Amino acid sequence: MAESPRLKRLMNAQSTIIEKVSPVIALVPDENLKKVLSESFSESQEAVSFIEQCFQTIPRQKWSNGFLAKFFNSWKASHLKMLAIYGLSCRLQRLAFSMGEPLREKLLIAAAKNAETSHEDLGLDYNGSTHAELYDEFAGSFLEDSSWQLDSYCLPEAKEFKKWIYLNMVVEEIQQGLIANMFSEIYNHAEYSIALPAFSAFIDNHYTFSAEKRKRALYYIDAHVQDETEVGHFLVVVEALGYYNQVMGIDTNYEQAKRLFKQYLTRLGHIMRALTSRMQQEQDGAYDSSNANFAGERALV
Ligand SMILES: [Fe+2]
Ligand SMILES: [Fe+2]
Repeated sequence: MAESPRLKRLMNAQSTIIEKVSPVIALVPDENLKKVLSESFSESQEAVSFIEQCFQTIPRQKWSNGFLAKFFNSWKASHLKMLAIYGLSCRLQRLAFSMGEPLREKLLIAAAKNAETSHEDLGLDYNGSTHAELYDEFAGSFLEDSSWQLDSYCLPEAKEFKKWIYLNMVVEEIQQGLIANMFSEIYNHAEYSIALPAFSAFIDNHYTFSAEKRKRALYYIDAHVQDETEVGHFLVVVEALGYYNQVMGIDTNYEQAKRLFKQYLTRLGHIMRALTSRMQQEQDGAYDSSNANFAGERALV
């Protein structure tokens, strides 16, 4: 399908992931951390382009309900990690109570800083309106019912990613947990920043939403981009890591951090590549509209 000049303009104006993360990396005071963050993004160019390509493809046409259900379920699995954040703060608090002052207080600060990454998700200053609710509203703007929440719509790559993040934050060394949480925040900042113009163009080109409905539909993504919410989250985890390292008398394991960052991008790249390939199949007509699913896939009713 030919892209409208307006859509072309919008998509050309869209920045890249590297452009979005670079100024945030520059805010990190630790030079070694700065270096491994930059290298991880630049050495993961293939994964990064799978991610960018997915968001560039979204506005191309109005997708089937089957695809949208798969997208909303799988994308959600790569976000909304409140349980893991809570688990990591619990671990820091438990460790704090096994120590005397002044170490106890520093670890409690680390736990609190880590927990700060979930304040908006929990709706603390937004009348209890949680990000899980905003996500449901986002998906519900495009799909009539909530069947997209069925587990069967989740891509295996996305399911695996969710489990991998959880284990990193609640089972692996605490330092690794903090590093995983930190990276997800900077990544989310970049991803939501490119997702916002993509979904804005998707709505403008294929839906006739009222101004209010459009605003509500985009609110989940917008809430993460406005006020640089995710940048703030990234920086509080950098601080939490500083407190933790100080108490434990250790340095950040930069090699391990870089491995995790690159793995994170590779895993995300696989999810996004799978989603893009489903959109391409649909564009090429390999789609069976009779069961609102892709040809060759089991009908989900
Ligand atoms: Fe959130
Ligand atoms: Fe966040």
